[in-house]
Amino acid sequence: MPAYPSTVECVTITLMADSQTDKQERAAIWQQLVSHQQQTADLHMRDLFRVDPHRAELYSIRIDELLLDYSKHRVSEQTLSLLFSLAEACEIPNKISALFSAEKINSSEDRPALHPILRAPAEQVLELNGENIVPLIHMQLARMRELVQGLHAGEVQGSTGKSITTVINIGIGGSDLGSRLAVDALQTFRTGDIEVEFVANLDPKDLSAVLARSNAETTMLIVASKSFTTLETRTNAEALKSWLTANGCSDLSRHIIAVTTNKTAALEFGASEDNIFYFWDWVGGRYSLWSSVGLPLAIAIGMDNFEDLLAGAHTIDTHFQSAPLTKNVPVILALLSIWYSNFHKAESHAVIPYDQSLRLLPEYLSQLVMESNGKSVSRNGQAIESTSSPILWGSIGTNAQHAYFQLLHQGTHLVPVDFLLPLLNSSDQQQQLKLVSNCLAQSEALMMGQDDDTDANRNFPGNSPSSTMVYSSLTPKVLGMLLAIYEHKTFVEAMIWDINPFDQWGVELGKKLAGQLIEDISVNETSGHDASTSLLMQEYLQRNK
Ligand code: F6P
Repeated sequence: MPAYPSTVECVTITLMADSQTDKQERAAIWQQLVSHQQQTADLHMRDLFRVDPHRAELYSIRIDELLLDYSKHRVSEQTLSLLFSLAEACEIPNKISALFSAEKINSSEDRPALHPILRAPAEQVLELNGENIVPLIHMQLARMRELVQGLHAGEVQGSTGKSITTVINIGIGGSDLGSRLAVDALQTFRTGDIEVEFVANLDPKDLSAVLARSNAETTMLIVASKSFTTLETRTNAEALKSWLTANGCSDLSRHIIAVTTNKTAALEFGASEDNIFYFWDWVGGRYSLWSSVGLPLAIAIGMDNFEDLLAGAHTIDTHFQSAPLTKNVPVILALLSIWYSNFHKAESHAVIPYDQSLRLLPEYLSQLVMESNGKSVSRNGQAIESTSSPILWGSIGTNAQHAYFQLLHQGTHLVPVDFLLPLLNSSDQQQQLKLVSNCLAQSEALMMGQDDDTDANRNFPGNSPSSTMVYSSLTPKVLGMLLAIYEHKTFVEAMIWDINPFDQWGVELGKKLAGQLIEDISVNETSGHDASTSLLMQEYLQRNK
């Protein structure tokens, strides 16, 4: 099966409007799952393991060096069979095909969501409006390579003739979190001597901390913004320009790179045409690490490593399209998530990497998952009948064990957990053994529990579900695989809830009101708002007299 549909398939795959029969079929399976959950509410995973000694082999999947063990879940063969029927009834295979074609799957913004094509090899073909877009993507990758090589060779110079040694990425949300995570995660793959810094927050303390350790003459800023209108990014970028000027830099175009879909605004800001890197409206911000938004990462780890990250994601794209639902990692993870959130009424999901390199992963995933699936209307604008995205949270093990694991073991909430675990560490195998043992101990304890009939405080009910993904060590390829798995898992969940994961209208109201508040406070006008907001505005004005 080709990784991408041909042009002919592109026009034939459509997200059909649901027929009454489709809806009835889905509702019937949904109802069967409701009943099945009630009938199996007392089922303990201990018993599932006892009756089936092959459960772990049966419920684990390998993709290259990645192994997913999903056996520690409250699911029987019948549960999984019902969940796969739900996926079939929701036409998941058809929807996966639609994602990989140029179909306008982002219905509320009337455009496709084609981030997977960003990691496809150059020989792949995908036509959009009669044009093969793969060469456009690879042209930007080639431009990135040229810049990265120039920076590493010391050939890129600022306005005073000194080589650039620091780049500061100014961006927020999807224009920040992915590269920030990946630069941090792939420290051991650093190539060249360029310092890579990130500033996102409107709080000026963020920028000033970075500027305090930077030298204007050797600093370049990357303004990463799909829209090039985001308040936080524009404000920080303007402040950085002023700092450059105040510190002796004249021709600022030699210190500015723009990564955007908005060429006009980037030129107006002062970027030269040669220093503008493009991506496209069909790449959502939180899905954009694979585009030129990944430039800070490419500078940090070199272009070859960056391309390994793309290759890892592409491996998952191919798996996602070709594996049957019953062996499809993103599909299975999505169905398990649906099982807990919709049928067991779990409200949150924890991601706990036992990998210091992935300390920023939960924050990255919180945008990916909650900005994508924190919705309450369906793709055709109707209120959805089920709950949608659970709250995603987490942090690194083992630190998490000494913070909130008490709640996971003995609290009243059901919280499914994803454990991510590297098995090798060349610097200290003994310490790695302790780390691995701690991770496995937690998933074992959560699942098995421990009965204590004499002291309720020491009773562990167990039966808490978790998935474990293991890999040898975190390479660019493995990171690409993990992130693509979460992207596609998020997509499958959205398709089952029938929501659009590619828009984010919910962030607009706050942005609009902030603009109004800036105007009102600037002219000492506190009326026209609710009493609470007026009081707080007055308090601000009082303290800033
Ligand atoms: O938070 C809303 C949002 O639009 C995100 O989806 C996006 O990643 C972020 O703002 C930044 O947007 P831009 O890249 O246009 O500056």
